[in-house]
Amino acid sequence: MNGPRKVYIKSYGCQMNVYDSHRMADVLAPEGYVETDRAENADLVVLNTCHIREKAVDKVYSELGRLRDMKDGAARLGRRVSIAVAGCVAQAEGKEILRREPAVDLVVGPQSYHRLPDLLRKAEREGRALDTEFPPEDKFDFLAPASREATRKRGVSAFVTIQEGCDKFCTFCVVPYTRGAEISRPVAKIVADVERLADNGVREVTLLGQNVNAYHGEGPDTQAWTIGRLLWRLADIPGIARLRYMTSHPRDVDEALIAAHRDLPALMPQLHLPVQSGSDRILAAMNRQHTARDYLDVIAKFREAQPDLSFTSDFIVGFPGESDEDFRATLRLIEAVDFTTAFTFKYSPRPGTPAADLDDQIDEDVKVDRLQKLQALIARQHERFQQSCVGRSFDVLFEKPGRLPGQITGRSPYLQPVQVMGPPSLIGHIAPVTITGNRTDAKSLFGIIAQPAVQQRSGAVAFAEAGV
Ligand code: 5AD
Ligand code: SF4
Repeated sequence: MNGPRKVYIKSYGCQMNVYDSHRMADVLAPEGYVETDRAENADLVVLNTCHIREKAVDKVYSELGRLRDMKDGAARLGRRVSIAVAGCVAQAEGKEILRREPAVDLVVGPQSYHRLPDLLRKAEREGRALDTEFPPEDKFDFLAPASREATRKRGVSAFVTIQEGCDKFCTFCVVPYTRGAEISRPVAKIVADVERLADNGVREVTLLGQNVNAYHGEGPDTQAWTIGRLLWRLADIPGIARLRYMTSHPRDVDEALIAAHRDLPALMPQLHLPVQSGSDRILAAMNRQHTARDYLDVIAKFREAQPDLSFTSDFIVGFPGESDEDFRATLRLIEAVDFTTAFTFKYSPRPGTPAADLDDQIDEDVKVDRLQKLQALIARQHERFQQSCVGRSFDVLFEKPGRLPGQITGRSPYLQPVQVMGPPSLIGHIAPVTITGNRTDAKSLFGIIAQPAVQQRSGAVAFAEAGV
């Protein structure tokens, strides 16, 4: 064989897909695959797909068209390129992908990707392979750990899946069908993953799940642990300075989590809590199982525990039956919470979900208009928040070199990108920064490294260690 085989993995959609893509690379590494960041160089291309909205699916099929040409071109030169479709489109459309796109060799769902090596062999033997099972075994037991090298390359901030799947069945959402029923990983396995990451220089961990508040993994005491308890355990791991989690469902927020935001310094003061709509009528039609008032009450409890929290959210405009008044209720809720930013979407009917069959679908031009209004409001709130940070000092976790020579870039506790002039030796470390400017066009705050007072939050480094 001429050198190692190369795999190119492209992720669409959510952070869990980014995490899954890393795990697929880890599974393929012992098989002799090294990652490349160029599809043209690859022997194997994996598209890790998203089914959440129609647009996301369209993107996958157009990318497959491009890959087909690339594969044909390589074949003419005597080089074999394999194409795999993974993720939620694979789960939802399985055989349809093989029918529609002859260039695809392999289709694998999100619960079966630990079987990738076997499936590749099967595809080689039999021409094509498909696995969209929800297998009885736990894929996490079969995944190779990331190598030290791979972890270092991925940086100082890492994702770890703690929970997967969803039992909430919001009427617009495909996730309960593509990711399956809710499962929680045992505490010991999550701890082992985070310890390994910390050993390889990771300082910040974001716990991932479709609904992390529903976490109920088995603890070492054989009890079901809540996410609050898990966060406390992970904060004890040496080297882990920052913890985050996403995504949450407002109904499953419990007192222990709220208390953790008050008492656990490693838990960052930024919380993504999707609400989708501010109208009770629409929330009921979405089967969100809470009202706008319930949501505001949860926010108030968080704020009481930790006044410095910044909230972000997801919104859908143009859900079937949404009136102007329903939409205005959403705008009012956005103002009431004062979200610092949000992901905003036009409703997209998804095959097989209850809302797709509702009669009163909303016209596209109404959706576009509402989306623009909602985004304008969010943009104003975001800008106000960015501006309010000027003059403040907070810890920044430095992640990589900045855009200009001599600059390094990191993240504030609120996840904002922050640029400072500073030595590359600070990358991987946390240092206090005074914010001196806000550049909307650069989507960044700018600051200067402040004089260190005492040791910052747990795990933060003193300057001497960072060589400044
Ligand atoms: N149409 C539009 N947006 C959707 N989302 C989920 N399903 C749909 C859909 N059918 C959005 C929700 C969710 C986020 C991940 O994607 O806001 O919180
Ligand atoms: Fe989808 Fe609702 Fe579950 Fe979130 S909570 S993944 S929106 S069904």
